[in-house]
Amino acid sequence: MDFDNSTIRYNERLEVKNYLPEMGKDQLAEKIWYGLQSTPKSIPSMFFYDTEGSKIYERITELPEYYPPQVEKSLIPFAADALAQHLVGSDVIELGSGDCSKISIFLDHVPTETLQGLRYIPVDFSLSAIVDSAYCLQSRYSDIDIMGVVGDFLSHLSFLPNDKRKLFIFFGSTIGNLERHDALSFCEQLAQSMSPDDLFLMGFDMVKDRDVLNKAYNDGEGVTAEFNRNIINVVNSLLGTDLDPMAFEHVAFFNESESRIEMHLKALNDLVTITSDGKRLQIEEGEMIHTENSYKFTLDGMKDMVEDSGLMLERVFSDDKGWFSLGIFRKKR
Ligand code: TRP
Repeated sequence: MDFDNSTIRYNERLEVKNYLPEMGKDQLAEKIWYGLQSTPKSIPSMFFYDTEGSKIYERITELPEYYPPQVEKSLIPFAADALAQHLVGSDVIELGSGDCSKISIFLDHVPTETLQGLRYIPVDFSLSAIVDSAYCLQSRYSDIDIMGVVGDFLSHLSFLPNDKRKLFIFFGSTIGNLERHDALSFCEQLAQSMSPDDLFLMGFDMVKDRDVLNKAYNDGEGVTAEFNRNIINVVNSLLGTDLDPMAFEHVAFFNESESRIEMHLKALNDLVTITSDGKRLQIEEGEMIHTENSYKFTLDGMKDMVEDSGLMLERVFSDDKGWFSLGIFRKKR
């Protein structure tokens, strides 16, 4: 396949490559329908992030109960200081980059001389997220070169540049949203695309007091509930159904034995709806639709997982309470 026509140059220091074959509405509808037909029902969490969902998620990140972004941000300067040497003349590849808030904190702690030779490579599903974030960075750091990659970081690692020393970054404990098997295979693939002197900085949300965990996913204002329910609007727009988001209760709890927060939508009564191509969808009162898992780690659990996949932990930064950790990893020799 020839990807050259999908490179867009925005300005002298910013270009974006698109590796994501435009997924048709039919394929997306197919994906959603499959989960809604399964037992138990589920909706893939990628469907949270339509325009409205992304806006609500941003409000979640500002909630006092939702500690992960705040705690992670407080750790980023320490990691950046530790990595300063490594960054001279390197590529910084951020997987699932989103907005510029975390990488800005990181770059603020990189010496100006080092910034001049740096190339930043954000990888994200969303072209608009990459472009917005790139403009935000260009306004702050005029010297930095940016090559955005629109793609799926789980399958497009091999398309990333490989001519310089690299630092991979995976903020946000997004690793915890993957099932164990997928998390392991992600780390394996990453280890394979790393050279011996590359480094990998990854965030982990840690196991902690149950109350703190449960509150983080059940905030007082109901923003989290709104976010979870918004996925029903996405279902309606893709399937042509007419489900009422308010016909579902937001359910999120810490599952001890699995060490994960589970997010579900629970039907408050019997529901029947017809898709635009005439298929009948029935949901029973009390039935749960699973929308996401968010695994929480212990230091040992985290080490075991990455070490099984061919990485080794070189350093770890945690806050005083041990709520969140940023690990620096290297490929095992
Ligand atoms: N990936 C985020 C997390 O695991 C998403 C998230 C935060 C979320 N709050 C939520 C998903 C509530 C569903 C419902 O932390």
